[in-house]
Amino acid sequence: MNPCRGEKRERPDLTTTVLRDARELRVPSSAPPRTEAIGALLGRRLQPGDVICLSGTLGAGKTVFSRGIGKGWGALPDLTSPTYNLAHMHRRARDEGRLAHIDLYRISGTSEADTLGLDDLLDGEHIVIMEWPERIREALPPAHLWINFELADAEGRELVLRAQGSRFTALMDALQRDLETSG
Ligand SMILES: Nc1ncnc2c1ncn2[C@@H]1O[C@H](COP(=O)(O)OP(=O)(O)OP(=O)(O)O)[C@@H](O)[C@H]1O
Ligand SMILES: [Mg+2]
Repeated sequence: MNPCRGEKRERPDLTTTVLRDARELRVPSSAPPRTEAIGALLGRRLQPGDVICLSGTLGAGKTVFSRGIGKGWGALPDLTSPTYNLAHMHRRARDEGRLAHIDLYRISGTSEADTLGLDDLLDGEHIVIMEWPERIREALPPAHLWINFELADAEGRELVLRAQGSRFTALMDALQRDLETSG
């Protein structure tokens, strides 16, 4: 029996300035098309300057999810893995929006990312979808949506979303509503 269950315990106050707006949302995915569909719901809501961090082990589903974001946003061309190019740039037919899909797996750290022009992408104009964001954790804008891809079983994943800042808290709330209405 878990000794923590069923009894009130003193818990430390974990609230800090940085985490003041932090919230967490857990979304299960049973298969790749579901992960893509969740990404598409998020993609429909993205605005210039949004930073989406996709974290998780190799093969966790970050690129599958990114492909969905691209479909929802209307990206041209379709999103594919940018592992060998660091960044793929996308536009869409509807407006002048720009979306950068970047993969930092091969980056050794923040200084190498700087020489590759990461700063220019984090300019508040581009939407930035980032795989392996932990490579540059100290250079991340403080406000962002962080999604952790956890493996449940062969085809099962759990997406754990954490929002930092009011824009991303609102975005996560909107996604939750979308998920509830889309079933
Ligand atoms: N529920 C699921 N959601 C997403 N992908 C899944 C799921 N179940 C199985 N998969 C499989 O897992 C793999 C995910 O590949 P993907 O390229 O998206 O991973 P990744 O996280 O981007 O890896 P990398 O770190 O190498 O870039 C695909 O082969 C996909 O078919
Ligand atoms: Mg990938």
